[in-house]
Amino acid sequence: MIARTQDADGPRRDMRAFLRDLPKAELHVHVEGTLEPELMMELAARNGVALPFRTVEEARAAYEFTDLQSFLDVYYQGCAVLREAEDFADLAWAYLERAHAQRVRHVELFFDPQAHTERGVPFEAVLEGLRHALERARRELDVSGGLILCFLRHLSEDHARATLDLARPHLEHLQGVGLDSSERGNPPGKFRDVFAECRRLGLRTVAHAGEEGPPAYITEALDALEVRRIDHGVRCVEDAAVVERLAAEGVPLTVCPLSNVKLRVFERMDEHTLRRMMEAGLRVTINSDDPAYFGGYVEENFVAVQESFGLSRDEVAALSRHAFEASFLEEDARARLLAELDSYLALDRAA
Ligand code: HPA
Ligand code: ZN
Repeated sequence: MIARTQDADGPRRDMRAFLRDLPKAELHVHVEGTLEPELMMELAARNGVALPFRTVEEARAAYEFTDLQSFLDVYYQGCAVLREAEDFADLAWAYLERAHAQRVRHVELFFDPQAHTERGVPFEAVLEGLRHALERARRELDVSGGLILCFLRHLSEDHARATLDLARPHLEHLQGVGLDSSERGNPPGKFRDVFAECRRLGLRTVAHAGEEGPPAYITEALDALEVRRIDHGVRCVEDAAVVERLAAEGVPLTVCPLSNVKLRVFERMDEHTLRRMMEAGLRVTINSDDPAYFGGYVEENFVAVQESFGLSRDEVAALSRHAFEASFLEEDARARLLAELDSYLALDRAA
């Protein structure tokens, strides 16, 4: 018999099924972080690239991280197997199929071109592969998506500018730009000028801030980079004024709970600041960040926070609603997906 656990909302479908079938949008997922060890081994063999592990089990065993940098070292190493447009297409397609199985209806994929162009992979090969997978997902899975080019913040602003130059002929294929990699010691202001140029070109801006870095980096991302969303932002609770501003301005935050525990931003899920952020009225969304490395895709992230914080269906639904609202979807597509969410919730209530 299938257990029908009765949560606080009554004798409806169990919470796990509710979370699985909930229409979702994912706004914070690095495509390179969706590289599962199986595909990594396959691409290594296809491209003749040597890896420091021989089996999938050995690879997974290496995924023990002490902080962001210890993860990034492994993440960039994994990128070495990605060489051809086809590799990027296979990578993104594998993610999109998994996301589809978790009822992700829309995804905004981060990618790190500098991690590839540095190794001699042409920018066009990366873009072509990712676009191919996204177009296929739209056609075959009815999952919509877009691309956000992230600049690596441990590299210079000049390097970011050179990367923007590579992207210039292809701007219609980008929803915006972001900022990722090693946060500490690389404040958002380091990229003020290149982000200003991106905005002049019509690109939206987002940035990782307040993951390992202090709340002041969140303020700096808002002021110096004029970001539309903050990626992570979980350390905002350390500064009441920052929380107040995020609430007053309705800034969306793309929170990645399993990532934060895996990278020891919080030692345990019950120490995560999500609940406090929600109580402060922040526009929090739930995302997977680098699911192949952090032990779960977006559904597993929803399950983890629902269980840790005993979230109600209404609270969970609000998290999903925020993601559609904070997405860079066109208004008609956004309205359609919000209507799909509403009818899902209405059906669930009626059950
Ligand atoms: N933080 C910063 N940079 C990243 C991450 C992250 O979680 N994942 C991939 N690049
Ligand atoms: Zn991230």
